[in-house]
Amino acid sequence: MKKVSQLYEGKAKKVWTTEDPELLIVDYKDDATAGNGAKKGTIHDKGIINNRMSNFMMKKLEEEYGVPTHFVEELSDRETVVKKCSIVPLEVIVRNLAAGSFSKRYGVEEGKTLACPIIEFCYKDDALGDPFCNQYDIVAMEWATKEEIDTITDYTFKVNEFLKNYMLEKCNIILVDFKVEFGRLSDGTIVLADEISPDTCRFWDADTREKLDKDRFRRDMGGEEDAYKEVMRRLMGE
Ligand code: TMP
Repeated sequence: MKKVSQLYEGKAKKVWTTEDPELLIVDYKDDATAGNGAKKGTIHDKGIINNRMSNFMMKKLEEEYGVPTHFVEELSDRETVVKKCSIVPLEVIVRNLAAGSFSKRYGVEEGKTLACPIIEFCYKDDALGDPFCNQYDIVAMEWATKEEIDTITDYTFKVNEFLKNYMLEKCNIILVDFKVEFGRLSDGTIVLADEISPDTCRFWDADTREKLDKDRFRRDMGGEEDAYKEVMRRLMGE
């Protein structure tokens, strides 16, 4: 499978067309942004870690949990063949512990355990700052149908159950929260798309609660490269 022409360049990835109209190649960059593009930087080898981790998780979700994904084949350290889909314009967030914007919104300390996992939807629009929205907004604005929201909700909680348990048991890491995105294939099938990585999840060491994710970059804490490497080491033994 070869790249034909660049379709799109996002904040963290480039997307290329291929000879097959149903397949694309995603190329993960080391570029990092935060605060809706206000902060820009580089996290050395992030692209390699995110590509490999995301593919590892999507493969497991598809094979073991029946969650359809866009993943087809890992081509190289940074490149993956994915199914072409049109992205549902939603950021779907699950929270197991309070952190980030949830803590700010409700004035609760980061790390407070929530009585049950929460799902949130944000409308994907950089110019608007990805505003919070609910299921009525989504149906009324035709961003997705009620049936699609139900499917997305079901898949997203499956991702949470798998990822939370896997990260704790295999990596001694708490899954605090994460964001996922979905797409529609040409026949309308909803698939998990985008990525699952330390860019899109909050990961805390289960003993020390040390942050092992992009918050180190977002909050100018430093040590983000070592944190990404540590997640990879615990996940893949390298
Ligand atoms: P938040 O607390 O800032 O709303 O973030 C919740 C989760 O979603 C956290 O794991 C980081 C992730 N996230 C993204 O992946 N992309 C984004 O643009 C935002 C705002 C959050």
